[in-house]
Amino acid sequence: MISENMVNALNKQIEMEAYASFLYLSMASWANTQGLEGCYQFLLSQSDEERMHMLKIFEYINEVDGHALTPAISQPPQKFTDIVEIFNDVYQHEKKVTAAIANLVKLSNEEMDFTTLNFLQWYVEEQREEETTMRGILDKLKLIGDAPNKLYFIDKELEAVNKAKAAAEDAANAQ
Ligand code: FEO
Repeated sequence: MISENMVNALNKQIEMEAYASFLYLSMASWANTQGLEGCYQFLLSQSDEERMHMLKIFEYINEVDGHALTPAISQPPQKFTDIVEIFNDVYQHEKKVTAAIANLVKLSNEEMDFTTLNFLQWYVEEQREEETTMRGILDKLKLIGDAPNKLYFIDKELEAVNKAKAAAEDAANAQ
């Protein structure tokens, strides 16, 4: 049976995933106001993914006879000044999530809660993927640098990322 301690820690993670979802949604909205359609679509889809991450934990807690709680979410920033800064912030936020997942893995190990430990493996892999994606984007943004029309090139780059992601999802669904 899952411990109260573990349920509390997982409920905290729900809060973190929900905040990430709203933060990325807010960033998406700002990108839209700047006419950055590729960035908008990317951040919108990241926001959706975070909601899915949240729900997955929510359902897991209830499945193992815990009580999943809808989180209180603090207001994310609404205004941003620079799209490169946004991607840097997303990367930093993902690193925080990775650290939080690592703490959950540690706790489940200490409690010999191997069901939760097993459940968390999906998140360990997901975080590796998310950090790799964000690092890839930041590397490309570095290459674009301060080129004239840089916003146009950044947005094109994000469009390419969106297409690659959609193709990978289609391939996974076809299996
Ligand atoms: Fe669910 Fe991107 O952390």
